[in-house]
Parts: sequence; C-alpha cells; structure tokens
Amino acid sequence: MQRRQLPPWSEFQQLSPAEKVESWSQGEGRLWHCLHAKQFDRKFLDGLYELTNIIRSLSKARAGSLFLQSLLPHKRAMLYFMQPSTRTYLSFKTACEILGIRTSDVRDASTSSEVKGETFEDTIRTFSSYFEFIIMRHSGEGMAELAAHCLDTSDRSVPVLNAGSGKDQHPTQALLDVYTLRRSFESCGGLEGKTILFAGDLLRGRTVRSLARLLTLFPGVKIVFASPEKFRMKDDVLAILRASGTSYVETTDFLGHLKDADAIYMTRVQDEHDNKDGTKSEKSFPEFSLRAEHLDILKPHCAIMHPLPRRDELAVEIDNNPRAKYWRQERNGMWTRAALIAHISGVDREIFAYWSELCRQAHHTAETKR
Ligand code: NCD
Repeated sequence: MQRRQLPPWSEFQQLSPAEKVESWSQGEGRLWHCLHAKQFDRKFLDGLYELTNIIRSLSKARAGSLFLQSLLPHKRAMLYFMQPSTRTYLSFKTACEILGIRTSDVRDASTSSEVKGETFEDTIRTFSSYFEFIIMRHSGEGMAELAAHCLDTSDRSVPVLNAGSGKDQHPTQALLDVYTLRRSFESCGGLEGKTILFAGDLLRGRTVRSLARLLTLFPGVKIVFASPEKFRMKDDVLAILRASGTSYVETTDFLGHLKDADAIYMTRVQDEHDNKDGTKSEKSFPEFSLRAEHLDILKPHCAIMHPLPRRDELAVEIDNNPRAKYWRQERNGMWTRAALIAHISGVDREIFAYWSELCRQAHHTAETKR
C-alpha cells in the first residue's frame, strides 16, 4: 500500500467515522484496515458471510483445509494484545492458522520496549518491519486508529485489525455476532424485523456499541436497551439509531421485555473502567441476569448470546439449552475473522474460484450418475 496523503493525526482524529472510512479502504469495496463498524455495509456483510460459509465448509475436509493453508504461508501476523483476552486472541490466532499465516504476539506491556520509553508509534512501525498484519487490542479508544494512521503516513503500511479499543469499538465481534444472529434466524425469516434485547453495562461495553450500529443495516430490527440507569447506552449510538430510523427503547425493566425478544445479548459489568471515568459499579446486577427459570418465558427460537467472559449475569444452567448461542459465537469468531483476513489480503477471489470449481465438479458427478 502506497503512502497516503492524510492530515496530521491531531486533525485526522477529529474527523467523524464516516469521514475516515475512505482512508481505511483499498478501494472497490475492499477494506485495508478494519477499525470501526462504520466500515461495514450490507453488500460487504453479505459477501463476507458467503466467504465465511465457504471457509467453514472447506476446513472440514483435509483437501480443503490444505488448500486454505496454502494461500498465505508467506505472511506473518502480530497479535498485539495490551488488554486481557481469551476468545478474541485465540480466534484471531486460529483464523490466521486456517489461512497458513504464522503469528507472534506481544501480550504483556512489560515485555515490550515501551517500558524503555519507546513511543507507541515506534512500536507499531517496528511491527510493520516484520509482519504483514497487526491485530491489536488496546485500552485506549483511538489507539488502533492511531496505529493505522502512523503506518499509512509511512512507506510501509500493513493492515491494522482492531480487536477491541477501550470502551468504544469491537468491530470484529459485531461481525461474528451478526453472523450468529443470521444463522440463528435462518429458518424463521432472517434477522430483518427481529427484536434484540441488550442487557447489562451498555455504557462501557464496546461489543454492544459496534453491534447496535451494525443492526441499523437490517430493516425492521427493533432494539431494547435494558440497563441500570447509570449504565445507559451513550447518546452517540442512540443518535445513529435515530438517524437510520431504527426503533429502540431504553428500560430498566429487563425481565418485562424477555417474552418479546428474538435474541437476548447479555453483557457483564465492565468494572475495569471503574474510577477512571468517575463511575463505580457493583460486580453484577441481579436484576439484569438471565436464569434458568426465565427460559419458559422466552420465545422458542430466542437466541441467547453473550460476548463472554461472563459472571453471574448468565446462569450456567442455560449452557446446554438449544437456544444458548454463546459457544457458537466463539467458533463463529474464528470463521468470520478468517474470512475478513482473506478479504483484506485478496485471496477471497481464489477461495470463491476453488469453491465454484468444486460445486461444478459435484454437479457434473451428480449429472453423470443419473
Ligand atoms: C468482550 C470484550 O473484550 O470487549 N469480550 C470479547 O471480546 N469476547 C466483552 C467483555 O470483555 O465483557
């Protein structure tokens, strides 16, 4: 990727996501960096999920899996995780492995030269000397964007994938959440028109912020935000919903909305942010918890979701209920992230071609057997 003519960071960071997205793309609908849910439109999602389904099918057989691993063995990825992570880290790592990409990681700030006073920008540029992808999680809201800006104004830009930025964004979690929702509603009319109930700490949960934005792409979706008064969804996201005509309600009555929900998205209290922003929270809110005795109230097709990790807000007794989708979310994260990396690197074209050839051969075999 060529060096870009971008305004200095102090100006660039003031722009709205809508004004920034163009500079994060390779053109022709192809992402370069993946930083913000604003980058995804319906056409992108449809294409990505088709690719996700193909990667998932191919991976099940030895030949398909070896084909996928042959696509990017000459590429390396840095997993730069400055906040704790189990699922996002592992799913990105395994997604890279599916495509043959080798990975390294920095997961502990005390092992990075940042403790010797190296700047964040120098750390990022150093990664770009060795790696073709930087997958990063950071406690700072704009840090993934800053990393991308720093690389785009250098001679060696590599894609930056945001694996969670502070309290703000978690775009790839939103990708896997929408994929999970669509699969859950395949036999009951799709995601359009469904009611999604979000519960918990909506003020500081980045997954809900990215997902709510993505739901505006699905006509007729209704959102219910159930949270304690002090952890209400921030107005910037509500403004996006209003502007797109997505109907939503805010409530403190979680239980009262259970019976109408087509999906319930539980979240934990994000108490790692306590005190930094003047907030102080309990470890959990019992009135925003889903318990086994609530299962009878829920619709038969209701998808129970959680980005995990969980605490008390989601009872373990629900885990083996067919409506529990959170273990699928974990796995879907691996498939959708593999599809995203394939899209960014352009090998999606080879995957689609390989798949159509397989389908053509299967069709031919079926025809000759008739
Ligand atoms: C979430 C996160 O890190 O934002 N977890 C995840 O990525 N699956 C949610 C959370 O930590 O509560």
